[in-house]
Amino acid sequence: MDIDETLTGWGGQMITLRRDEHTGATFVVAIHSTARGPAAGGTRAMHYDSTAEAVDDATRLAEVMTMKMAAADLPMGGGKSVIALPAARHDIDEHTWHHLLAVHAENLRLLRGSYWTGPDVGTGSADMDIMHAASGFAFGRTEAAGGPGSSAPVTAHGVHVALTAGAARAGIGDLRDHRVAVQGLGAVGMDVVDRLIKDGAEVIATDVDRERCDRASTLGARIVAPDDIMTVESEVFVPCATGGVIDPAVADRIATRVVAGAANNVLSDPGAADVLNSRGIVFAPDFIANSGGAMHLVGREVLGWSPDEVSRHVESIATTLDEVFTLSDRDHISTETAARRIAGNRLNQEADDA
Ligand code: NAI
Ligand code: PHE
Repeated sequence: MDIDETLTGWGGQMITLRRDEHTGATFVVAIHSTARGPAAGGTRAMHYDSTAEAVDDATRLAEVMTMKMAAADLPMGGGKSVIALPAARHDIDEHTWHHLLAVHAENLRLLRGSYWTGPDVGTGSADMDIMHAASGFAFGRTEAAGGPGSSAPVTAHGVHVALTAGAARAGIGDLRDHRVAVQGLGAVGMDVVDRLIKDGAEVIATDVDRERCDRASTLGARIVAPDDIMTVESEVFVPCATGGVIDPAVADRIATRVVAGAANNVLSDPGAADVLNSRGIVFAPDFIANSGGAMHLVGREVLGWSPDEVSRHVESIATTLDEVFTLSDRDHISTETAARRIAGNRLNQEADDA
């Protein structure tokens, strides 16, 4: 993978790159589109094998943020930033981390509000408090600092709405006694497990973190090894860990009827969506299923919505998915293609109106 390859056909507006000599960390800010408003998307802090890989991740995630904002009809564009760390996030000491947040806050100031950040893998509300104080361009501060708090519970609500809509389309209806496999028991995945247990579902779950598995087990989930979750037979598969877990080969053998979860870019490429579609597996596109977090952040902080208004918008994820399913049936296309067409039409409409 090289940067030229990533940039060819990306279609985004701008990428900024910065190397911090002090730590060896590389910052990538990818602004995919500002057609609907300033670009917005979280800051992902993790280790990458190369700068090219970090740029590839940032650009793909920024593009999906454009789709997410358009599909949810939020007045923002799409962007994402990556802090490519010199080591795994948990190996970065507090002092170094605060230095990195200060550098990233300067990146935000330099971009003067054309990009707004928020929490993502490796960052949380406390980090947003620091970056917002230093830049004014971060969503998702803690309530103590005047923000709306973590987006994770609202994202989990939206994922639950999406998987329920997916199950209904697959003819499953009520999830009671149906098997649901959850990959990743972080802030979103654990909350989804809790909701599924309350539904009466038989939950099978995994995480690479043993403590999180123990917690899910206390909630009532049966735990399997991380490598086994993709081969577990289930009615619904809920990916809430990292992206790229379903490639065409996995799509061809996954033993489930519905895929709906939080992980951004869960499909390695659009071909995987075609394979799922051809096998009759209902796929709820991730940028719709996980849009609750964006609704919470942009709704509360830009549009002035109350928590109840956010909830109502999150419930409307079911309606958006119905539109996607109807278009997919009508035009014999995958749900991923249908969702991108709906979001793309909204973006083109914006451009025509401008
Ligand atoms: P998190 O970092 O709290 O949780 C991710 C969990 O996945 C961690 O417990 C981690 O140990 C686990 N994990 C990583 N690799 C794994 C593997 N190979 N097998 C099993 N478990 C693995 O993240 P969070 O906030 O729960 O988000 C989950 C996903 O949803 C991420 O991909 C994130 O980008 C996406 N997302 C999150 C939103 C939010 O509001 N938090 C909004 C939209 C998307
Ligand atoms: N990172 C989350 C997402 O992918 C939450 C987020 C939304 C962060 C919007 C910033 C802006 O949806």
